[in-house]
Amino acid sequence: MNWEKSFTQTSAPAKIILFGEHFVVYNKPAILASVTKRVKVGAYLNNRKSIDIKSDLGIEASYNKESDFNSIIKGRKDSEKILYPLYEAARNVLSERNQIQGLDIVVNSEFPSGVGLGSSAASCVATVAAVESLFHRPDKQYVCDKAIKSERLIHGNSSGADCYISTFGGLIYYSKNMGFNKIYCRKDLSLIIGNTGIKHSTGALVSSVKKFKDENNSLFNNLSCRAENISRDAFTAIEKGDEKKLGKLMRENHTLLQQIGVSHDKIDYLVNVCIENGALGAKLTGSGGGGIMLALVTQEKKLKIISTIKKNGYECIPVEIDFNGLMIY
Ligand code: MEV
Repeated sequence: MNWEKSFTQTSAPAKIILFGEHFVVYNKPAILASVTKRVKVGAYLNNRKSIDIKSDLGIEASYNKESDFNSIIKGRKDSEKILYPLYEAARNVLSERNQIQGLDIVVNSEFPSGVGLGSSAASCVATVAAVESLFHRPDKQYVCDKAIKSERLIHGNSSGADCYISTFGGLIYYSKNMGFNKIYCRKDLSLIIGNTGIKHSTGALVSSVKKFKDENNSLFNNLSCRAENISRDAFTAIEKGDEKKLGKLMRENHTLLQQIGVSHDKIDYLVNVCIENGALGAKLTGSGGGGIMLALVTQEKKLKIISTIKKNGYECIPVEIDFNGLMIY
């Protein structure tokens, strides 16, 4: 297949988990959404026979070998590790097209990485799409499948839900057994993300929940059933546009996450700040242990909550649900 373009630009959105994190690992349903913050990727053909990746995180790496691009010629050690999945994503697309061609890949993100907003998934989705677009306009399912493979180099055997939501956008009800179901949302949800700034390891938190489960089996089963009911009720509340109910369910979900030990003092503090200042609901989102929390707010209370979070010294990111998913320019 021949080149159609010499450079392309794409973007893919961040994600949040509205309900069901951690319990989803044990086959319970979760609700995920893509939100209005994006990773932007540019791919440019070069004539240096290397894949050079530069990110606005202040890292860059170059992968170069005449035949298969698999040796690193520059870049700090952690740059190579962090950017490797993007290199793999690009190299895979090129090798499927039987192309050995140098590329420059430039990554810019509107949201922080390593806190639970799905930065690696969005970067993989946007990179696969950018490289594939050099040949032709890509099919979203193809992009999603390839991005999941690359993202697994970072997060091991992840469910693939982050790549799915970043590619297709909107809201999904997801479980390991049933796969992905789109949710139709009646109302615009106004959401605020509070960032504790504490980076976390998803793998370590998932292991700590497993330990909790092994040591407290019947309690964990009970909490899992409650988490399942919360996600089911939330599905209906989203479809009906019942924000009050959603807020209540978010507060209940947070209590369950506290009980399995994945919350954090700073997350609990921010959740309380939001509730005390009139949020409809608030909870940790993602793996916990620091990272970020999420609040559902009304337009009337939004500015007050944003300014209170900021006054307390935390990053605050107001978002809405993104319905576009992957965009190719
Ligand atoms: C992390 O964003 C979500 C977890 O449920 C882990 C997973 O689903 O793989 C904590």
